[in-house]
Amino acid sequence: MQVLSEKYTEEEILKKLRKKLDERRYIHSIGVAHTAVSLMMAHGHGRVAEDKGLRELSMAYTAGLLHDCAKCLEDDERDHLCKKYKVELTPIEQEHPYLIHAKLGAVLAKEKYGVTDPQILSAIRYHTTGYENMTLLEAIVFSADFIEPNRKMLDCLPWIRAEIYQNLQKAVYMILKQTLIHLEHRGQPVDENSLKAFEYYKQFADPSVL
Ligand SMILES: [Fe+2]
Ligand SMILES: [Fe+2]
Repeated sequence: MQVLSEKYTEEEILKKLRKKLDERRYIHSIGVAHTAVSLMMAHGHGRVAEDKGLRELSMAYTAGLLHDCAKCLEDDERDHLCKKYKVELTPIEQEHPYLIHAKLGAVLAKEKYGVTDPQILSAIRYHTTGYENMTLLEAIVFSADFIEPNRKMLDCLPWIRAEIYQNLQKAVYMILKQTLIHLEHRGQPVDENSLKAFEYYKQFADPSVL
């Protein structure tokens, strides 16, 4: 389907990604792109939009494909690109560099893949942490990253996958909760945006699972 790039066709973007990602991450990215499109079909404005929702589907596809474009960089290259594009890092990101790929990914989507739509770039920027009151596209890419079909199976996944087509915000809450439990379990730090998101999306939770 159409990618929203000023410079490249879909075929060219797939080719570039295949070079930059390892096989597992490439397959995951395709999974996220298609899942994001299906979530946009369910929750987008296709029924009332003048273009029948085609642009929003392309936005979901483009953001999904590129969300992890900075995930497989060598440390040197990552550091070089952060310096080159003046990506400001928080202390948590400096300590845990795997968190940097979302921020840097948004920059590379623009600089290396020709994507200029700020909504797509923001969905890439926040796909790992989320934040409070996300836009539809941001919430969709954040969720698609968690539920796409190639994800390692977790007990909660079938419930979230079933719920998400009915109630996206409730599913976002469930994903945030799972993510925080997982990070705590592994003794990893929690980004401030994730905490803010969790507090915000609590209002959509089932009272029984709070
Ligand atoms: Fe990611
Ligand atoms: Fe991902």
